Amino acid sequence: MKKFLWLLIILITITSILCLIKEKKEDKKIVVDNPYKVFTFYKEENLERYKKYKKLNNLDIKDIILRVNMGLDNSFYTHTKEVTFDKLMLVNKYNYVSKDFEVPNLVPVKEFAKEGMYLEKECMEAFVKMAQDALKSNYNIRAISTYRTYNYQENLYQNYVKKDGVKEADTYSARPGFSEHHTGLAIDVDNIKTSYTDFLNTKEFQWMQDNAYKYGFILRYGKDKENITGYMYEPWHYRYVGKDIAKYIYENNITFEEYYYEFIEKN
Ligand code: DAL
Ligand code: ZN
Repeated sequence: MKKFLWLLIILITITSILCLIKEKKEDKKIVVDNPYKVFTFYKEENLERYKKYKKLNNLDIKDIILRVNMGLDNSFYTHTKEVTFDKLMLVNKYNYVSKDFEVPNLVPVKEFAKEGMYLEKECMEAFVKMAQDALKSNYNIRAISTYRTYNYQENLYQNYVKKDGVKEADTYSARPGFSEHHTGLAIDVDNIKTSYTDFLNTKEFQWMQDNAYKYGFILRYGKDKENITGYMYEPWHYRYVGKDIAKYIYENNITFEEYYYEFIEKN
C-alpha cells in the first residue's frame, strides 16, 4: 500500500512538471509568432497595420504599437475621432472636440494672466500656485493665451493660413476643434518682458523646465517630438495633467500621446 502511494506521488509530480514545460513552450510560441501580443496596449485589429508600419519604420515593437494606436500610420487630420471632456483628455490632430464643446468649471484667471483669460478650475489653481512660487524666486510667469472657443481658433487658424499657407500653418496652429486650448487645460506663457516666441531664451523658461511638472504641467510640444505631436517645438505651451503624470512624462522625456496610449486609452 505504501509503495503504491509513493508511486502515485511520483507519477503526479512527473505529470505536473511535464505540463509546466509544455505550457512554457506554448507561451514562447505566442511571443515568437506574434511579438506584438506581449504588450497590454496591443490591439488585435491593428496587427496588420503594426506589421506594415514596422516595415517602413526602424522602431522597436513597443513604439510601433503605440504609434499605430495613435493613428500615425495615417496622415494627420484623417481617421479623426470626437472626444468629450475629461481632465486627461487627448486633443490632437486625430482627436477633436465638437463646435459646441463646453468645459465644465471654466473659471477666470485673476492673477498672473492677461485680461479675459479662462481655465478649467483645477488647472487655474495649479497655474496660479506655480506662478506665485516662481515670483517668490523672481521669475515672472504670465498666461497670455488659455481657453479658446471654436470660433476664436477658426479665425486664428484662417489668418495663419492666409499669411503662411496651409502646410506651414499646420506646423504651428491647430485647426478649429483640434486645439488643446479648447479643453481649458492648456496655457501659453511669457515672462511679461519678452515675446512668447522668445520664451525659450528666458530664465523663466529654464525655471519652467525644472519646476512645471511639480505643479502638474508638461511642456506639450517638445523638441524633436514633431513626428508624434504634429507641431513644432513650443517652449511656451503647457498642458495640465496633474502632478503624478507630469512627473512621469518629465522623467521619461515622452509626449502626452505616448503616455496616453500606454496607460490611459482603454480598448
Ligand atoms: N499652437 C497650438 C498647437 C494650437 O494652436 O493649439
Ligand atoms: Zn498654445
